[in-house]
Amino acid sequence: MLRQGLTRLAAAALRVQEVASCQQVQAQAPVTWGRLAMATNSHDIFNVHRHSPDNNLDTPFDFTEANYELVTELLSRYPTNYRQSAVIPLLDMAQKQNQGWLSLSAMNKCAEVLGMPPIRVYEVATFYTMFNRSKIGKYHVMVCGTTPCMLCGSRKIHAALRDHLGIDFGETTKDGMFTLGEMECMGACVNAPMIAVADYTRGVEGFSYGYFEDLTPQDAVSIVEDLRSGKSPVKGSQYRSKAEPAGNVGTGKWVPVPQNLTQTLTFEASGGKPPGPRCRDLDFEAPKDPPAGPPNAKTGSNKPV
Ligand code: FES
Repeated sequence: MLRQGLTRLAAAALRVQEVASCQQVQAQAPVTWGRLAMATNSHDIFNVHRHSPDNNLDTPFDFTEANYELVTELLSRYPTNYRQSAVIPLLDMAQKQNQGWLSLSAMNKCAEVLGMPPIRVYEVATFYTMFNRSKIGKYHVMVCGTTPCMLCGSRKIHAALRDHLGIDFGETTKDGMFTLGEMECMGACVNAPMIAVADYTRGVEGFSYGYFEDLTPQDAVSIVEDLRSGKSPVKGSQYRSKAEPAGNVGTGKWVPVPQNLTQTLTFEASGGKPPGPRCRDLDFEAPKDPPAGPPNAKTGSNKPV
């Protein structure tokens, strides 16, 4: 009995030693994360935090004086006993000030300002996909990959951006200019396919989150090139004024609808007008002579009585 207890104790001590040395190795080894280690969204790269030279407890972060004024204004919108409800807008502000990503210190600062346990802030920051837990380019280019955009050519958009920038989802260009990401539906399906670009070049005040819609692969490339050269590419649809029936980019190029046509679908057989709903001809469909049933036990006939 005693021997068994001692053996168990020794095994436990060994396990503690193993864990400690494993943690030591993790702390010392440079962390490299390949594509296989993450999902397609770049925010997933560091959902499991590992200290790194530019993201550890000593990495400096504090809100600027101007942003502290915004923080005060923000907190005044919440009852004092519900300050924690401001965690999302506060993290958002920290991310914009920190060139698009949330370091450990940035999250800790939010926890300190809100008077909440840091772990609760980490939970929020790792749950919402618009928070980036790793360094990111000045422009976060997100390709919508959900069904309507996919059917209208988002894979061609992804391929064009990947080939042009030389990076895939979750990666950043060497010059630190662009990060490529994939997002789920961003609510602009009527003008699919689309990309969204988060612009982190101008801090909290100048931040923008632009939608670029009705894209051909060439349009997507032109947009990133415009951003690179400091121009402001046209936001919204690249071909229509809003989402009126005007054409589509389903074949990888803009195909306008013929003039005088007010809809994107054509109905040649009905003179350009959509046919009415199909009505069932009940008389035609009703059987004239109902099928004969089994013979009636009394009459011997199989006709309905
Ligand atoms: S599917 Fe892309 S915006 Fe909805």
